[in-house]
Amino acid sequence: MKFNEKVQETKDYLLSQIDQCPSIGLVLGSGLGILADEIENPVYIPYNKIPHFPASTVTGHAGRMVIGDLKGKRVIAMQGRFHYYEGHSLEAVTYPIRIMKAIGVQQIIVTNAAGGINPTFKPGDLMIIQDHINLTSQNPLIGQNEEEFGERFPDMSEAYSKKLIALTKEVASKNKIDMVEGVYAGMLGPSYETPAEINFLSIIGASAVGMSTVPEVIVAKHSGLEVLGISCISNMAAGISEHSLTHDEVMETTENIKAQFLKLVKEIIAA
Ligand code: 6GU
Repeated sequence: MKFNEKVQETKDYLLSQIDQCPSIGLVLGSGLGILADEIENPVYIPYNKIPHFPASTVTGHAGRMVIGDLKGKRVIAMQGRFHYYEGHSLEAVTYPIRIMKAIGVQQIIVTNAAGGINPTFKPGDLMIIQDHINLTSQNPLIGQNEEEFGERFPDMSEAYSKKLIALTKEVASKNKIDMVEGVYAGMLGPSYETPAEINFLSIIGASAVGMSTVPEVIVAKHSGLEVLGISCISNMAAGISEHSLTHDEVMETTENIKAQFLKLVKEIIAA
């Protein structure tokens, strides 16, 4: 089956399940899926029910789409995402982004948990992604270009919308939420980096590192979506902090970050 036919089938199925099209898409990273629990009048669609969606390998919390209202806006949230390190192709990893575009989404907020490289960061920080460095040696657009989905050589000079970054800063300051800003280095994983690799990432200008987001943002830009990226610094990367965090500290960090994160994203959507 042709790619556009698959997309059409997936789109038709999703539209048959909902009565209003979402305009904002949310990709929720590890530990951040709780945001989808705040969606009102939710329609839950498990990934395994959606035609042509990759088979979810997520354990525990099964992956699903949650469609409904958040702060008076119609949203579609991915509770759980697909990673390349799970063995999915990049076409599969980014398929949900294509589908969001197909059903009418115009802006997406992509979130992740990331390791901090900038030594002024601390676990619990929320980072606005200014830009990314693709260090995966992969690209989801490799292969014949499907012209109806986007151009052959998409511009990446403003991968992360300056307008949405400015809006986020305004919202954060209004709500007294501290934020940092930086460049996200996208790795394939699943092993974490060595201290030498983190030193290299630091030298080339990365502020945080993670194993997601980059393929999704490339496809989002290819499709003409406006992108906002937010990283939750869950820990410092190898060699950055003197001592490793205790499990209690990590749990505490995650709890604090969650409340702030929820508030932030909800207020951004409202704005
Ligand atoms: Cl330190 N590295 C990578 N690649 N991903 C992460 C991370 C580090 N911390 C959270 N996610």
